[in-house]
Amino acid sequence: MDRIELNKAKRFKGEFSPTPDKSISHRAVIFSSLSKGESIIRNFLRAEDPMSTVNAFRALGVDINDEGDDIVVNGNGIYGLAESHNIIDCGNSGTTIRLLSGVLAGNPFFSVLTGDESLRIRPMARVINPLQQMGAEIMARAENKYPPLAIKGKKLQSIQYKMPVASAQVKSAILLAGLYADGETVIAEPAKSRDHTERMLPAFGASINVNGLHVSVKGGTELKGAEVYVPGDFSSAAFFIIGALLIRDSDITITGVGMNPTRTGLLSVLRKMGAEIEVQNIRNLSGEPVADIHCKGGAELKAVSINKEEIPALIDEFPILCVAATQANGTTTIRGAEELRVKESDRIRSMATELGKMGVAIEEFGDGLSIKGQSVLKGANIESYGDHRIAMAMAIAGLIADGETTIHGVSSVNISFPGFFQIIRKLTL
Ligand code: S3P
Repeated sequence: MDRIELNKAKRFKGEFSPTPDKSISHRAVIFSSLSKGESIIRNFLRAEDPMSTVNAFRALGVDINDEGDDIVVNGNGIYGLAESHNIIDCGNSGTTIRLLSGVLAGNPFFSVLTGDESLRIRPMARVINPLQQMGAEIMARAENKYPPLAIKGKKLQSIQYKMPVASAQVKSAILLAGLYADGETVIAEPAKSRDHTERMLPAFGASINVNGLHVSVKGGTELKGAEVYVPGDFSSAAFFIIGALLIRDSDITITGVGMNPTRTGLLSVLRKMGAEIEVQNIRNLSGEPVADIHCKGGAELKAVSINKEEIPALIDEFPILCVAATQANGTTTIRGAEELRVKESDRIRSMATELGKMGVAIEEFGDGLSIKGQSVLKGANIESYGDHRIAMAMAIAGLIADGETTIHGVSSVNISFPGFFQIIRKLTL
């Protein structure tokens, strides 16, 4: 039975580390697979999404070993991949299919990439267009819109590309294709998206240059194996930060959380709402800032307006931020968030529908929504839409609701956060 029942929690208390970062885990496997020699990935996220990336590179002939504590990859360089004998299943993972498209665009063999029901309606033109401009041969279903994708890699030319949407997946796909291109590929982003690729690729020997919203890569450089430590995932910690703020007697410390500023926009928003969140013991691990986060319950939150510029740095925190907004005084408005409609589910629709079932007054717009607080949530039968972040956000809503909440489709948490419910159990003991 793929569901869980939750009741109102008295408190969150204790200390824990969140699961390792999903975005950084994907990149560590991809860059290691394209490098010559041995790479070691410490604190890798063993969840369904990063495992889709591991399985994809195994299908392309890379030797990837799970040695318990570490993942050890023995790569053969950027031209060391072999044609897969079968189609490559990217599961639910947008990062896998988009970044892999960039890699395969420069590899002189045939590949077919597909995924689950959700991935097969995620937009792909955003990667196909620039990769075609570089010279790749790519086709996709529905007039080049959706997976499956068929790719015949070619000799690529560098491009100067102005991205229409702020997307780290698109930026990373182009940077990876740029490794195979003649000359320097230059990308201009409309707003800063997460920069893990730019931070990590140089450790493998790539020549990357960042200048504000411009990122460039020089083609033709060989990559060599490296050692990467993956910090805790801020996006996973976010569910517990907001859980602790909303559950009155809470007091928690989350250790080893990745604090990359392109990811922590939620902290600025929560502080604007009046929350006190302490960030302690800031350190650097493999080029990423890491810290411990301490927060307590009983905060008096006030409503805020969030606009387009703020969205990229909190893109994955939208569902849990909606839950926080239900407990803030006044009406919170989130606009310029149309990208949320094309995530693992239509997250604007999913959150509006499911919080609506709990009695929240929500208005939905094409590019966001407004949420009236403070709302007394009522336990309800909740659908996850197979979307891990909807399941987890609504679970936190269930912990502050009156009466019982049932979340259906909870196994989706295994996409990014196996052990999510065990941590809830531990913190609510
Ligand atoms: C990701 C980038 C974001 C994010 C996704 C992971 C990445 O997607 O929502 O969960 O690892 O690069 P977009 O780049 O499409 O915004």
